[in-house]
Order: sequence, then structure tokens, then C-alpha cells
Amino acid sequence: MNIAMTRRHLVTLADMRREDMLSLFALADRLREPGRPPLLAGRTVVNLFFEPSTRTRVSFELAAMRLGAHVVPFDVEHSSTQKGETLLDTLRNLEAMGCDQFVVRHKENGTPGLLAEQAAAGVSIINAGDGNHAHPTQGLLDAYTILRHKPDLANRCVAIVGDILHSRVARSDIHALQALGVGELRVAGPEALLPGRDALPGCIVHHRIDDAVRGADVVIMLRLQKERMEHALIASDADYFRDWGLDDVRLGRAHPEAIVMHPGPINRNVEISDAVADGVRSRILEQVANGVAVRMAVMASLAGAA
Ligand code: CP
Repeated sequence: MNIAMTRRHLVTLADMRREDMLSLFALADRLREPGRPPLLAGRTVVNLFFEPSTRTRVSFELAAMRLGAHVVPFDVEHSSTQKGETLLDTLRNLEAMGCDQFVVRHKENGTPGLLAEQAAAGVSIINAGDGNHAHPTQGLLDAYTILRHKPDLANRCVAIVGDILHSRVARSDIHALQALGVGELRVAGPEALLPGRDALPGCIVHHRIDDAVRGADVVIMLRLQKERMEHALIASDADYFRDWGLDDVRLGRAHPEAIVMHPGPINRNVEISDAVADGVRSRILEQVANGVAVRMAVMASLAGAA
């Protein structure tokens, strides 16, 4: 298995080429099948999660284990970071014990990038989400999921709806989909939850969900990131659902074969109705399943093992 990607860290998708993404997806296709080779045998992976996570954390753990790596459980709450140790010193100490890959989630933008600049030779840093900056493996798994359903991406319209301002997923999805040549990329959300237009190059901005969804082939709904709001930016969950929630009526305006995605965790009946989240168009759990394969591909390629 030879893939073109030669990078050692994955911090953002802003600098990843289309061919590198497609190579990763081809590798993910192979690694998702039983009988995969233990490409990370003898390697040690540490998950450093300074923010809550269900999907990303377990997905990385499973991906590492399925490739034969040792996975070190690292409990931030009971680590020496609570006693004042800097994150860089934590990295240095774990490197000294022979750990090879660090999967890092942090509320501060740029933390994984700073660690990548300081990491020892042969050590990889993988960004598992930093602030509202980037969530590159989510962007990759979202693009992978879309391509499995809509391989003719250049002829397709993708709408990303919700809290764009605070969403690292939106940023990474935009990078991935633009690199892959999406036909039309729409973003929509309440004015208070939209970044400045210069932060959305190449995107068509809509101010009503109905306009964003109309005729779309893919609708990606985003979670309200209340933990990143310094003060309330929406009146209430009920108001938000009324104005911005995706229900069957609104989904009826999309292309008849449109798929619905959401990175999770979903807030039912805030961003998305139960009926849509659990409906036949939903690919939300498929995204989760694909995430393990895509993360296996990322870890193996960063380790130079693929
Ligand atoms: N999509 C995502 O990042 O989910 P978690 O916060 O549960 O990892």
C-alpha cells in the first residue's frame, strides 16, 4: 500500500491536496475490510482529549487498536496538567516513554499545531478538534461519506446549516469539499452565528434554511456550540428549531435523493427533528462508522506504514 501523502502531522485540511485525500479514501476502503494488515503493530498512540468527546475519541482508539497499536488511556482530569505541567512538558515526557502518535483535542485554536511544531522526530500529532479552527478527520470522514453516495461531486450541491461561526467541522468540511471540487457549496445560519464573508471564500451564503436546502444533494446540519458562546446568541432552543431546524417539510425542498448528515452530537429537535435524524435519508451513523476507517488510513499514512 503506497500512498502519496508524506506529511507527519495532521493539523488542518487547508493545505491538503485532492490527490492526498483520494489516496487516504482508497486506503480507508481497504482498511475497512476484515483481514487488514496490522500496520501500526509496535506503535503507541496516546489520546490527549482536553474537551469532551464520544465519537472522535472512541473512533481513534478503535482505529489504533484495529491496526495493532497500543493505546494509552490518558485521563486529563487525573494527569499532571492539573498540577501545572505544561502541555509541551507532558508531550516531552510521553515522547520519552516511546509514544509515537498523539491525538489532541483542545478548546484553544492552534494547540495541536503548536505541539506539531515541537514534536520530536518520528512523532505525529493529529488534531482531533481545536476550538473553532479545524477538525480535519471529521472533514475527511464527511467528504468520504459524501463521495460514497455522490461520487460525481462536481455536479452536486452541499448545504452546511447552523452554527457556522463556532464550528471547526464547517471549516474542515469546506476545505475538504472545495479541494475535492464540489459543484456548489452553500452555508447558512442565523446572522449571529455566521463568520465574516471573508472567512467563507467560495461559499454561497444564505440567510434562510429553506433557501440553503432547496435542491441540495447533501444537507449537513451542525450542532449549536453553546460552550463556545460567551453570551446567548439565540433566543431559545424552540425558536432556533422553528427558524433553523431541519424537519421533514424542509427536507422536502432538497433534492429527492438528498442525504442528511450531522457530525454529532445531535441535539434532537433543536437542529434536527427526530424523524429526519432517524429517517431513511440520514447518514449520521454511517458517518460514525466511516470515521473509524478514515482514521485508520490517517494514522497508518502519518506513521509511514501505508
Ligand atoms: N463529531 C465529533 O467530534 O463528535 P465528538 O465531540 O463526540 O467527538
